[in-house]
Amino acid sequence: MSTSTSSSHGHLFKLITLVALTLVIGCSATWEVSHNTEFYWRKIHVHVENDITPNKMMELHCKSKDDDLGLRSLEYKESFSWKFKINFSKTTLFFCYMGWNGTDGKLVQGSFEIYSAKRDRTRCGTQCYWSARKDGVFSPSSEGYQVMYPWPTNSTLLLRD
Ligand SMILES: *[C@@H]1O[C@H](CO)[C@@H](O)[C@H](O)[C@H]1NC(C)=O
Ligand SMILES: *[C@@H]1O[C@H](CO)[C@@H](O)[C@H](O)[C@H]1NC(C)=O
Ligand SMILES: *[C@@H]1O[C@H](CO)[C@@H](O)[C@H](O)[C@H]1NC(C)=O
Repeated sequence: MSTSTSSSHGHLFKLITLVALTLVIGCSATWEVSHNTEFYWRKIHVHVENDITPNKMMELHCKSKDDDLGLRSLEYKESFSWKFKINFSKTTLFFCYMGWNGTDGKLVQGSFEIYSAKRDRTRCGTQCYWSARKDGVFSPSSEGYQVMYPWPTNSTLLLRD
């Protein structure tokens, strides 16, 4: 008899453990899901494509406060991409210099905010696309690609390095 009692105590103990374990797993799953939507642990990919005009090279130089991605030369339809994790403080910011030789022989150039965690975290999700075109730098929206930055018409010479 005493064996049977202790065994039913054992069952009760197992049941309590199971319930407790389920609660713990349940809570951690909820935490993971809410964490998920914040993109903290995911890597963000940014892509910049040279869509200016056939046979036109574009120079690109992207930087954040901590990272210098170097000066690149992109062929027409070539794209440059990189990935990173956004800062916990959401201060992640990448700027890109872009320049190409205009038809009149003048350098068309600008320096643009290409990834800002505050602006782009929800707008882009984990993939942020940019298309550099003749009339500016475009970004996709629900109505297709829209110009986000027209090329400055009267910019003083920018430092590309
Ligand atoms: C992350 O944020 C810190 C400030 O909190 C800033 O110094 C650093 O440049 C940021 N990193 C990137 C990649 O923007
Ligand atoms: C613009 O043309 C000059 C002279 O041909 C060349 O040296 C330079 O690399 C070109 N710049 C770009 C951004 O393609
Ligand atoms: C460009 O800007 C400078 C300084 O603001 C000005 O002196 C110059 O006339 C402008 N050039 C053109 C073509 O608008």
